[in-house]
Amino acid sequence: MDIELTIDKLVFGGDGLGFVNGKACFVEGALPQEKILARLLVDKANYSKAKLIRVLVPAPERVKPPCPYIERCGGCQYQHLPYAEELRWKQNQVRESFDQVLKLDTVLIESVRTSPKEYGYRNSISLHRTSPGSGKPQRMGFIGRDNHSKVLIDHCLLAGESLKSVFTALHTLKRSEEKRTFKLDEKDRILTSEEEKLYRVNVGGVSLWTSSLGFFQNNLAVTGLIGAQLEEWVRAIKPGRFLDLYAGVGTFPILAAREVPEIYCFEENPYSTGCIRRNFKETGMPLTGVLTGKVEKTFPRFLLANPKPETLIFLDPPRQGIASSLANFLAKEPDAAHIIFLACDLQILLRDLRMILAASRYRIRSVVPFDMFPRTKHIELLVWLQRI
Ligand SMILES: C[S@@+](CC[C@H](N)C(=O)[O-])C[C@H]1O[C@@H](n2cnc3c(N)ncnc32)[C@H](O)[C@@H]1O
Repeated sequence: MDIELTIDKLVFGGDGLGFVNGKACFVEGALPQEKILARLLVDKANYSKAKLIRVLVPAPERVKPPCPYIERCGGCQYQHLPYAEELRWKQNQVRESFDQVLKLDTVLIESVRTSPKEYGYRNSISLHRTSPGSGKPQRMGFIGRDNHSKVLIDHCLLAGESLKSVFTALHTLKRSEEKRTFKLDEKDRILTSEEEKLYRVNVGGVSLWTSSLGFFQNNLAVTGLIGAQLEEWVRAIKPGRFLDLYAGVGTFPILAAREVPEIYCFEENPYSTGCIRRNFKETGMPLTGVLTGKVEKTFPRFLLANPKPETLIFLDPPRQGIASSLANFLAKEPDAAHIIFLACDLQILLRDLRMILAASRYRIRSVVPFDMFPRTKHIELLVWLQRI
């Protein structure tokens, strides 16, 4: 069924939200103030989803997306808006989501910190197999908007210029390889997840070792901004101990906790833990300990055996957030004075914060959003919790 509606706002994820007979209707690609024609796709009791058929009255902000693959590729949600507008809507989404989920009206949410680069900021990309089970050389692609097709593209506007060649090259994949990640080192040379290699990246003016088989942040300029914000908070807190959970290669204590007397890193990836030791040594920072394994196991055991109130716990979990056992532990057990959470998924962060705040032992002191992934729906958040 086709319907006409007017869009009120952009919700988290990038869809336009309008109302049809009082029921919320979400439309991908539609902008606030637009009158559109849309086709109903999903009709539930309390909301519906529709596909944009035609913009009848366009929003004054609407621009032509610069990417020729925008219709099929699932990567970007905001190319039809000027960057400043995208930031304005992301700010709004963070404010509304915090209000809706946590229902705390005193939370200070600072303005979204802008990415210095609107395009060309990614120093790593993952491409997917396009020819199933084949041992023959093949081109690789991104996952499409439908969440399963593979889209072949010649270049991606989000990727660093030096990654250009991987989109058109033929790749010979191992039978088990469904996707391959391509990363740039500090001299813009390409490394792949095909084999283990150590390489250097430069972030916030510091050269760090990382592994082709480990995690490293994607937008290095924004990572530097997060490091600088964290350093400012660490200076204000003056903790006696910094515990880095989900530490990767130790990026954040190296960028932000130089003056803290005790630093422990918790990380499960053995390729990354090797780099942590090397990075601390080369940057001349003392490292008190590395705990290898699942944080939800190593950390509670460590903290119960080594209590210390003047502790700052820093967490930077993967997109799926933290285990509920860890969230409950953080809510009830630690006597740590401060927790700082870095998260790349707003909804998952709120799920985790709700659990941590449930015991009313911490309060949110500050929230700073960072636009780590311009043109996409994602927003990175740094949240400071203080012991009440
Ligand atoms: C988002 S990254 C953060 C990395 C680090 N903060 C940095 O910027 O380099 C998440 C890290 O957590 C690690 N990880 C994921 N699940 C884990 C778990 N359950 N226990 C320990 N480490 C985990 C991953 O290997 C990855 O290095």
